[in-house]
Amino acid sequence: MKSLKLIGPIAQLLTLDKLPLKGALKDEQLEILTNAGILVEEDKILEIGDYAGLLAKANKLQTEVIQLEGDFVALPGWIDCHTHICFGGSRAKDFAMRNAGKSYLEIAEAGGGIWDTVTQTRNLSQEELTARTVTNSNRHLSEGVTTIEVKSGYGLTVAEELKMLRAIKDADSHTKADLIPTCLAAHMKPRDFEGSKEEYLQDIVEQLFPTLKSENLTNRIDSFIEQSAFSPDEINSYCQKAKESGFDLTVHADQFTTGGSAVAVKFGAKSADHLEASTEKETVLFAKSDTIAVALPGASIGLGCAFTPARKILDQGGSLAIASDWNPGSAPLGDLLAQASILATFEKLSTAEVFSGLTFRAAAALGLEDRGKLKAGLLADFNLFPTADYREILYQQGKLKPAQVWKKSWKT
Ligand code: NIG
Ligand code: FE
Repeated sequence: MKSLKLIGPIAQLLTLDKLPLKGALKDEQLEILTNAGILVEEDKILEIGDYAGLLAKANKLQTEVIQLEGDFVALPGWIDCHTHICFGGSRAKDFAMRNAGKSYLEIAEAGGGIWDTVTQTRNLSQEELTARTVTNSNRHLSEGVTTIEVKSGYGLTVAEELKMLRAIKDADSHTKADLIPTCLAAHMKPRDFEGSKEEYLQDIVEQLFPTLKSENLTNRIDSFIEQSAFSPDEINSYCQKAKESGFDLTVHADQFTTGGSAVAVKFGAKSADHLEASTEKETVLFAKSDTIAVALPGASIGLGCAFTPARKILDQGGSLAIASDWNPGSAPLGDLLAQASILATFEKLSTAEVFSGLTFRAAAALGLEDRGKLKAGLLADFNLFPTADYREILYQQGKLKPAQVWKKSWKT
């Protein structure tokens, strides 16, 4: 006998259904059910609709009724499609230096930056990395983030990248959040690698890619395309080989200089993320492609840089997801909802655009089709915010946390 649960009544249930994957959205396009209920069978949505109607049905079936007291807004669980939450140490020193006038690249060149975190991450055991990843995931989950992409990229040898990806896989079985691993061995050429960038990438292709497959560690390959990491020319054949090996691609693109988004679109990457430096030439590319543009307001806030031109991307017809980029260097805040709300004020994004960017458009960036909307057949993966008006959620700029997070038939 399958377990059935009815949750309600819900003052406003935003399905995010029937919205297009690409382009600008108005709040009038949001489908809002009032006095609604969600009928859950095991971990899937069986039906959503009017609470009274579902209650009558529930009384005929063997259903556990979870009656809510007070006003709630229901939304799909947030999906954070870009994080680096598996790491060792802290970069508080970088943050202070940056605020004292040093640039991100100057700090990196002086031995700080990504390489500092690589050293601190290599110093941890796989078990310690798992524990940190679980802690960070559970914090995200308590704030309504039920699916979390997690990158490697602080190992930068075959063995250390494997340690990170095994830690992420292990962490996934110790948290109720779903962790989606991504290999970011192409984060930078490691300082202790004796050889060219090309030779480093060749080693990754030959020695790491087969194990990613055989141990089922990830089907996603990310690259940091930037002067301080890999140029478009330097990364081209790596992307080609990753694609030929059957991996999905994603790219850290146009963070400080342009070039990365063109590579992403050329290879049909699932997403191009950052885009703070993108100009019109780059943003029009997204309108013509299936690559999702991912804004990372946490990196703009952490570095004190411009925001991704989200408004332009949407107006030109592209698809926009919003992710936290939570990492110890450029984006230490890790509060996805606060960051998305701040991006909305600077870029003039409608609530529909922000909610879509945190749900089904982010799901598309990860190639996931079973979540991101509230409708029958999809995962019962949703947040209940303690308010009667959905507009309160962005208005409170991250202060309004979900009262209940439903994930895998379990609530926090
Ligand atoms: O997405 N841009 C490159 N990678 C990360 C930063 C990682 C770090 O600074 O440790 C990012 O911002
Ligand atoms: Fe990143």
